[in-house]
Amino acid sequence: MKKNIEWFAEWFDSRYYHVLYQHRDEQEAGLFINQLMNVLKLHKGSKVLDIACGKGRHALMFNALGFDTYGADLSENSILEAKKQQKENLSFFVQDMRDEIPINNFDLVCNLFTSFGYFEQQKENELVLKNIYSSLKKSGYLVIDFLNSVKVCKNLPQKETKTCNGIEFKIEKFFDSNHIYKNIFFTDNGKEYSFQEKVQNLSFSDFEKLLFLQQFKIEHIFGSYQLQTFNSNQSDRLIIIAKK
Ligand SMILES: C[S@@+](CC[C@H](N)C(=O)[O-])C[C@H]1O[C@@H](n2cnc3c(N)ncnc32)[C@H](O)[C@@H]1O
Repeated sequence: MKKNIEWFAEWFDSRYYHVLYQHRDEQEAGLFINQLMNVLKLHKGSKVLDIACGKGRHALMFNALGFDTYGADLSENSILEAKKQQKENLSFFVQDMRDEIPINNFDLVCNLFTSFGYFEQQKENELVLKNIYSSLKKSGYLVIDFLNSVKVCKNLPQKETKTCNGIEFKIEKFFDSNHIYKNIFFTDNGKEYSFQEKVQNLSFSDFEKLLFLQQFKIEHIFGSYQLQTFNSNQSDRLIIIAKK
């Protein structure tokens, strides 16, 4: 019998996720982290964790800026790939964000590019934020970079076809009151595949509640990787900076 694997464990661990999202690269990550550092002004040697780091594109940038950087992700394949870049003050490990992280350890914990809102239970969201809160040193920062659900939903439903590395991805996006969905269909080497991304339809006020529950203080909200002001009708991203 096929084991019931959670969608995010399967899709993000497959090579096809990285084919489809290849434009989300180190250059985009570098520009964003540079902007972020103008706001956060961390001292050299600060300890940074990127939780749900993927192949480590943001972690690489934190390390280049002189921070002691750790990247963690559930996907074994992504961490194997990230480890190829491992060096002094840059290490990667497999970790489920619902599991405990070392406490009072980090100056900054990041959760970037819609790496939140995957779980079935609200308690699991709370658990992730509780873990992050405990892992931060006093006055440490959390950065969450999520989609702006208000703008995303205004433009749904949507269908598109995208060809990457010779694979034609047929994509359908839609939403309901709880989730935003992306169905992805393609054929590779004669085999048909289908995956579904299912992200909770979280607004800024949902994050506010979740963060306040853990006693985070929200310091900034931005609406793009250039750190423009957040506008729920116009912004592409919802980027929250909160302090322990
Ligand atoms: C949209 S990708 C973003 C990856 C990376 N932050 C980036 O910007 O390229 C979401 C990431 O979350 C990771 N992820 C999903 N569920 C996770 C979990 N329970 N614990 C840790 N990482 C998880 C996935 O493996 C994937 O790498």
